[in-house]
Amino acid sequence: MKKKVKIGIIGMGAIGAVHADAFSANSNNAEIAVLCDINSDRLKAMGEKYKVGKLCLDYREVLKSDVDAVVVSVGNALHRVTACAALKAGKNVLLEKPMAMNSKEAAEIVATADKSRKILQVGMVNRQRGDIQLARKYVTDGILGDIYHMRVVLIRRRGIPGLGGWFTTKAASGGGPLIDIGVHWFDAAMFISGHWNPSSVSAMTYSKFGSPMKNYKYVSMWAGPPKFDGVCDTEDYATGFVRYGKKATMSFEIAWAANAEDESYVEILGTKGGIKVFSSKNPRLLTEFNGNIANVELLIPESGSPFQIQAKKFIDACRGECPSEVPGKQGLVNMKLIDAIYESGVKGKEILIK
Ligand SMILES: NC(=O)c1ccc[n+]([C@@H]2O[C@H](COP(=O)([O-])OP(=O)(O)OC[C@H]3O[C@@H](n4cnc5c(N)ncnc54)[C@H](O)[C@@H]3O)[C@@H](O)[C@H]2O)c1
Repeated sequence: MKKKVKIGIIGMGAIGAVHADAFSANSNNAEIAVLCDINSDRLKAMGEKYKVGKLCLDYREVLKSDVDAVVVSVGNALHRVTACAALKAGKNVLLEKPMAMNSKEAAEIVATADKSRKILQVGMVNRQRGDIQLARKYVTDGILGDIYHMRVVLIRRRGIPGLGGWFTTKAASGGGPLIDIGVHWFDAAMFISGHWNPSSVSAMTYSKFGSPMKNYKYVSMWAGPPKFDGVCDTEDYATGFVRYGKKATMSFEIAWAANAEDESYVEILGTKGGIKVFSSKNPRLLTEFNGNIANVELLIPESGSPFQIQAKKFIDACRGECPSEVPGKQGLVNMKLIDAIYESGVKGKEILIK
């Protein structure tokens, strides 16, 4: 029997618990050996729930332990320092999205991973969804023909998370919906299409709803309630146009809040067919059939929880059985794109991406 990979989880908040569930479901291959959080009550409760004996209030204690790998699931502002320290300590790292606050930080993480020769996997969990895997296969099998455009639409009518908290504080989050949710759909679009070389972007960002905070009307709030004495200095809407040289383009609209209907999809346009992947319904193939224009709803077989699959692929990579499922270099491309979108919005012109 193969040796179990020993895992430490740093940051046992909302998503840290999801990782604990995912690695627990892979208990034949991995053992959660250490949990870490600065919130001692939460840490104790999580230790009891997941039956983990070693609990640390300081992540550096995790890095001194004999774990093979760590999950970095603290807030965005701590990704760089924690991931780099873990890689330098010889630990493999599964790093939550967004990879970092900006591309400079992301580049430092990639360089540290290269030097350490450890596995760095970015937590682009949506890639493990059955519909996104299938869409990628349709591209690699040539079913869609030549891919020339990606449409990324992710509109929440009123979905600002934790208004006034770290989500809406740029110094803690790095940005608004672009960094929080856009990063997932950008990854999906580039993963499915295979276009990973954005060359320029012309974009605009707007902050029209979150500030002043007390005027924000909403039905429900993830990570709420609002902290009216907090900060909201992030965008709540971003739109733009990205060139991938002369090979392909991408248009996007990403919003935490807008006076527009909720919508969420990535649509990939090819010469033989298009595929539209949604957040929560079956993907649609847009093509021609027997001389007619046809839409085909694709029924996706159950493929299991994306977080569990992500954990299993990370374990396999830690064992040297496969490369990182989401290499740091792809996370870095995503961060460079987002940096350029912000810069384009501020300067009001097209920005080259190097
Ligand atoms: N993959 C996804 O779909 C997904 C979903 C939600 C969040 N995330 C990402 O996960 C990260 C965490 O988000 P969250 O929603 O779980 O936030 P959260 O605030 O619920 O959890 C963060 C946890 O980190 C702890 N913490 C803070 N500083 C720490 C430190 N120095 N050492 C150890 N623990 C520390 C906090 O006490 C808290 O329990 C973010 O980067 C976020 O973008 C990813």
